[in-house]
Amino acid sequence: MIREPGNAELNLSVFRDKRTVNTYARYQDLQPCEAFLFDKYLRPRMRILDLGVGAGRTAPVLAAGAASYVGVDYSPEMIDVCRSRYPSLVFQIADAVDLSEFSDGSFDLVVFAFNGLDYLYPDSARRSCIREICRVLERGGLFICSVHNALCVFPRSDNEVARIRADYLTSKVSPNWTSAQRACSKAVSAILRMKSNTSLAYGNIRHKLFSRVFWKGEGYFYDRTHGGLFTRAAIPHKVRAEMAQFNLEGIDTVKCEFPQESGLFSTAWFYYVFRKQVPMEGHCTNYRSSGKAGRLRSDGSYSELEHRGNGQSEWANDFIRPARTRL
Ligand SMILES: C[S@@+](CC[C@H](N)C(=O)[O-])C[C@H]1O[C@@H](n2cnc3c(N)ncnc32)[C@H](O)[C@@H]1O
Repeated sequence: MIREPGNAELNLSVFRDKRTVNTYARYQDLQPCEAFLFDKYLRPRMRILDLGVGAGRTAPVLAAGAASYVGVDYSPEMIDVCRSRYPSLVFQIADAVDLSEFSDGSFDLVVFAFNGLDYLYPDSARRSCIREICRVLERGGLFICSVHNALCVFPRSDNEVARIRADYLTSKVSPNWTSAQRACSKAVSAILRMKSNTSLAYGNIRHKLFSRVFWKGEGYFYDRTHGGLFTRAAIPHKVRAEMAQFNLEGIDTVKCEFPQESGLFSTAWFYYVFRKQVPMEGHCTNYRSSGKAGRLRSDGSYSELEHRGNGQSEWANDFIRPARTRL
């Protein structure tokens, strides 16, 4: 497999690899930020689509209490693991770029957990996927996903040795020291404390600081994880702006290090919650995927403009029931 930009097959080959599949099969628990968001936004009897489900880490939590649950992944090997782990749940092999087997508005919640969206390469594939997610979501439905942070140059590291050294240095400060000695010791322990929380590897920082992704605030980079993946990263403002183009309004953002503190330059990725916008009453829009102009009424019903043979147009009978207020 050629590892170079433009090779869209590379990521799929990595996610089909036995070693990658085994790695994901070992992951069982939700990250605290995911547990927090699922607790906050999951409602009983939701219809849930779990995109890029991997080896099924999120499946039991999302499926419990759902009216329906489908896990989807384009790696057949990942889906095999899901099926053997959770035989009572529904899993399908499909590319998230083409969700044509699901009808419009058939889900209340779509999840693309653990940065799965970042592996859609190139940009056009990711954009088609977002368009599809918006189509299969019910009006007012939610989309939860995470995206790598383009500004992350000091990822968190939990360096215990640095923390112990900082504590030792602080304990050694004596009242007899001169103010210069005290200032010096304070500066060194501050650096060690920073190192205890973040990875300050010089090569890594230099590599990221000189990258286009960092300065542009978005783009693909070559990520050495699992032997090498084309991975996208973006700053929160750019993520929300792109989703807004597809009628998805950002309603929540949580750092992946939650509940621990992390800064803009040390957050590895952000979790986002988007809500599919309901167009305003009377607003004419290509709202349905049919692409026809439509009109939304105050009761939530919707009608399309039908073209008659005599060259005239009229509003067709309403075909959408008033929206259920489930969310
Ligand atoms: C980082 S893993 C996350 C797996 C799982 N969601 C989890 O949280 O453990 C990303 C997953 O997304 C899947 N994926 C990436 N691109 C995809 C696409 N275009 N269509 C469907 N699945 C995709 C990969 O096969 C992989 O299983």
